[in-house]
Amino acid sequence: MRIIRAFALAVLASVVLAATACSMQQSTTSVTADAQAAETGTSSEDTSMSEQTKAATEQSGETRVGAFDMANKKVRLNSGYDMPIMGLGTYSLDRNTCVNSVKALLRNGGRLIDTAYMYGNEEAVGEGVRQAMKEYNIPREEIFVITKIYPSQFDAPEKAIDLALKKLDIGYIDMMLLHHPGNGDVYAYKAMEKYVEQGKIRSLGLSNWYVKELTDFLPKVSITPALVQNEIHPYYQEQDVVPFIQEKGIVVQCWYPLGGRGHTSELLNDGTISSIAKAYGVSSAQVILRWDLQRGIVVIPGSSNPDHIKENLDLFGFELSDEEMARINALDRNEKHDWY
Ligand SMILES: NC(=O)c1ccc[n+]([C@@H]2O[C@H](COP(=O)([O-])OP(=O)(O)OC[C@H]3O[C@@H](n4cnc5c(N)ncnc54)[C@H](OP(=O)(O)O)[C@@H]3O)[C@@H](O)[C@H]2O)c1
Repeated sequence: MRIIRAFALAVLASVVLAATACSMQQSTTSVTADAQAAETGTSSEDTSMSEQTKAATEQSGETRVGAFDMANKKVRLNSGYDMPIMGLGTYSLDRNTCVNSVKALLRNGGRLIDTAYMYGNEEAVGEGVRQAMKEYNIPREEIFVITKIYPSQFDAPEKAIDLALKKLDIGYIDMMLLHHPGNGDVYAYKAMEKYVEQGKIRSLGLSNWYVKELTDFLPKVSITPALVQNEIHPYYQEQDVVPFIQEKGIVVQCWYPLGGRGHTSELLNDGTISSIAKAYGVSSAQVILRWDLQRGIVVIPGSSNPDHIKENLDLFGFELSDEEMARINALDRNEKHDWY
């Protein structure tokens, strides 16, 4: 009897999931190039758009997996769900700072939040989300929360996922990543796949997976990851890895977009980036984040400062030319700012 009930619940969950994905598909595919043009103030025939932006964004009116819908600030994932293309990273934000940063993001129109078991702040993220939903009247469906399980949890993945669900306490997890490759990663991923079937996790992804790791991993799992989150900034650009991932219909998201705490000063004061920022009357941080978006890379800058959080969401009033994109691309020096 219990087995039949569990089966019926699983079927119900997948029907609800499919219906939701379908209705989301319908709502987003109705975005036309003209609607985008109205929003951005450009003509749909506009030829000024950079080549890299054309490649990374949706021009035809059809919503293609992985193509950025700049008008709605979203990307369609291979799971059928849409994810905002810019948000907030919460690494090293402790309790009250984290709650305040999450609320500042949501108050200013941001909807994407990245956390992890390892950051020790999933409860604070959940608290910030719940408070913001109530205070600013934001439906849960609009918010997208990513969390991660750590290699030390891979041998008991169900326990790790249940813990994340409990700590976040926001009903379901929009996306769960494996934080690093490690012993038992395939086993842990397969456990996450079961939670997708049950509707408790919506999309899956990986973090710190590169070409070799992905080549080994992908044939061993059933659900292709929707996202890979890796270190990317102007001094470490992953120019080979990014297209390798994107060509598989997997969205790329960058960590340390501003170089990471302790490394931001050199990057934000870089002569090339500062001069481009000056030309548009924006900050260096905005130029870097815009450069990412034009490469089709989702950004989650970390911040404890509500003014920075607001500024980091304001990325749509200017567009980098091909020449400016090339100048930033030329800053690559393969300089990783963390070991993984
Ligand atoms: N998957 C992984 O292995 C991994 C590893 C590391 C990070 N991550 C994720 O990626 C996110 C981003 O990385 P991160 O937070 O470590 O580094 P980051 O985003 O590169 O840099 C954060 C630093 O930038 C400053 N900042 C933010 N916006 C600014 C602005 N507009 N102007 C000037 N300074 C600004 C912040 O200071 P204020 O606080 O003063 O704004 C903070 O010191 C993390 O929060 C985490 O969610 C993932």
